[in-house]
Amino acid sequence: MDAAGKEEISVEDEAVDKNVFRDCTKIAFYRRQKQQLIKKSTYQAVLDSITTGQDSTRFQIVHEATKIPLMAEIYGIERNIFRLKINEEMPLKPRYEVPDVLTSKPSTVRLISCSGDSGNVVLADEKGDLKCHITAKPFKVDLVSEEEVVMSINSLGQLYFEHLQVPQKQRATKENESASVDTAKENEDDLGLWEEKFGNFVDVKANGPASIGLDFSLHGFEHLYGIPQHAESHQLKNTSDGDAYRLYNLDVYGYKIHDKMGIYGSIPYLLAHKLGKTVGIFWLNASETLVEINTEPAVEYTLTQVGPAAAKQKVRCRTDVHWMSESGIIDVFLLAGPTPSDVFRQYSQLTGTQAMPPLFSLGYHQCRWNYEDEQDVKAVDAGFDEHDIPYDVMWLDIEHTEGKRYFTWDKKRFPNPKRMQELLRSKKRKLVVISDPHIKTDPDYSVYAKAKEQGFFVKTREGADFEGICWPGLSSYLDFTNPKVREWYAGLFAFSAYQGSTDVLFIWNDMNEPSVFRGPEQTMQKNAVHHGNWEHRELHNIYGFYQQMATAEGLIQRSKGKERPFVLTRSFFAGSQKYGAVWTGDNTADWSYLRISIPMLLTLSITGISFCGADVGGFIGNPEAELLVRWYQAGAYQPFFRGHATMNTKRREPWLFGEEHTQLIREAIRERYTLLPYWYSLFYHAHVASQPVMRPLWVEFPDDLQTFGVEDEYMLGSALLVHPVTEPKATEVDVFLPGSDEVWYDSKTFAHWEGGRTVKIPVALDTHWEPVGA
Ligand code: GLC
Repeated sequence: MDAAGKEEISVEDEAVDKNVFRDCTKIAFYRRQKQQLIKKSTYQAVLDSITTGQDSTRFQIVHEATKIPLMAEIYGIERNIFRLKINEEMPLKPRYEVPDVLTSKPSTVRLISCSGDSGNVVLADEKGDLKCHITAKPFKVDLVSEEEVVMSINSLGQLYFEHLQVPQKQRATKENESASVDTAKENEDDLGLWEEKFGNFVDVKANGPASIGLDFSLHGFEHLYGIPQHAESHQLKNTSDGDAYRLYNLDVYGYKIHDKMGIYGSIPYLLAHKLGKTVGIFWLNASETLVEINTEPAVEYTLTQVGPAAAKQKVRCRTDVHWMSESGIIDVFLLAGPTPSDVFRQYSQLTGTQAMPPLFSLGYHQCRWNYEDEQDVKAVDAGFDEHDIPYDVMWLDIEHTEGKRYFTWDKKRFPNPKRMQELLRSKKRKLVVISDPHIKTDPDYSVYAKAKEQGFFVKTREGADFEGICWPGLSSYLDFTNPKVREWYAGLFAFSAYQGSTDVLFIWNDMNEPSVFRGPEQTMQKNAVHHGNWEHRELHNIYGFYQQMATAEGLIQRSKGKERPFVLTRSFFAGSQKYGAVWTGDNTADWSYLRISIPMLLTLSITGISFCGADVGGFIGNPEAELLVRWYQAGAYQPFFRGHATMNTKRREPWLFGEEHTQLIREAIRERYTLLPYWYSLFYHAHVASQPVMRPLWVEFPDDLQTFGVEDEYMLGSALLVHPVTEPKATEVDVFLPGSDEVWYDSKTFAHWEGGRTVKIPVALDTHWEPVGA
């Protein structure tokens, strides 16, 4: 929807037009994989070809029918991690391997082939009890720990790999006939091999079909979590045909809840938990990805394997996870836990830990699209003091700029930005302003002119600068995948370059999926071209990650490495935690969105992003006083705490709903500040020891089955249990108190209960309930 469109919408007709977005049936690589898998052709591992190098063990796998070889590599990585890479042995040209996400080259451990015959090989590191059993025919890999098969790969035979082919046109000239047969077949089946249509959009694919897929069976597991971002429950649901979890970063205004469609960010990483064990699967791929999940309640699994580790055959549940990506290679990390905190450490060893936030950013943030002018900012700022409500950060949205030209100020509304920042500074407050990735195509705008001159924009497949519509109208998009562009962009935050900026100004990156109004699914054409000649399809999900990376670097540089940056981003990928905070985008002022904020934030938290939050009050629409109060009470106990509202909503600063409500909001925000040292310590712990700040109960009570599905309450660190009130006119809430040897105290009344029970707690509007565990 375009700028005008967004403004015209009223809350009543907010329903997302799902026709703007593709579901699985409209995704050609999904259809191709499904069609092919019905035919059940299999791969075999050529174990004679096995070689063990310094870092990895390599062997060929060959498709039964096509006979084309793939090369598989298995790496042992320190701390109980296996990595499996599968690529074409000799691709026509290099396939995209996601750079810049892994913090360093993972330290490998040497794997020893400890037993096996011609049909099997067992790999293990010298000390580990973890073993990797490779079976040749049909190809599968079993991960075995303590004589128990934890996970099997390709045991369902869903390994799928489309080999790069000579482009259709070249072929057509060479082998006229066969190419036309191909085209006929493509049209007939609508397989979208070289061309894919969606509405009026045609995606012409430079490399043709390049899709990949693989299945993972998790033995004894039925509780899975992760793969944000979806407005869905914390525990992943079984998917039905055509309703896979989609990982494809999209700008979905007022996204629908309880839906598996892709929204702003993607982390292709999930955790599985059962009594006694937690494991993770990290699928490092930045192209469009679909994940199917299916739990079988009771199945047998026998490890047809030699050696002492012949696993017992047991009847137990099993969850199958099927990953499918549009392109790239198979590069998957298997994190073997065995505890939740081990898995958190393993994942952060690969992708980094949460950046340590500056203290101010853990306070309360006041945002609105838009605070109109300097006068407005002054008045709102004074309002907080008059009403004795603490806050730390004032925010300015897109209207603060000269015609949505980022790094500029609207001269009429903000004639003296430094004076405004000095006012805020005098009260130890900060300012955050927005900086989006689209750059208005205006030769007189220096950011545009310089980027154009240096060739820093994403290109069309014909080689021109890509142009699309966003807030400023016609815009080009900075190619943040290019390290030179990132370096240049970082430089734009230098005080000398960014006129009117001071060291109390911090940054908000929005619309970085990237959002392209009137583009296919509101985003960039997949065949746009990036640095290194990579198509946008290869790296779509990592575009926003790179913008936040460059912005954080810019803020670090401007302070000569002394200050920690604060950068909020809407779009993200695995590893974004290293660069700042994430919020859940354009939610709605409705109780259901308050409720869903909890599982959405829990999912982000366990996939590395501890610094996350949802717009307090709901971005779209007008919350009634009760909802606003409840949202402040909930938000005060969520990591990133910002009130925000869209244009044409009623003003909703905390003092506009009558003294009774002002008092309640004041209390909620003050509680946040009372606990600020605790928040800061938790973030320090997240930063140095990889443990999430906001934790689902199962993380703190991994041996308590009853916690596995809980998502209306959670732990903050290991001391505070939080159960926000998310129903209108609530008079009581049912609070589950885990752990039979725990004693739980009400933090206000000091009433106490023993754990291992659900208690009914009476609530009034001034109660929001967070007992402390002892
Ligand atoms: C997007 C953001 C929202 C922001 C608006 C204008 O909708 O999600 O937070 O206020 O753009 O910049």
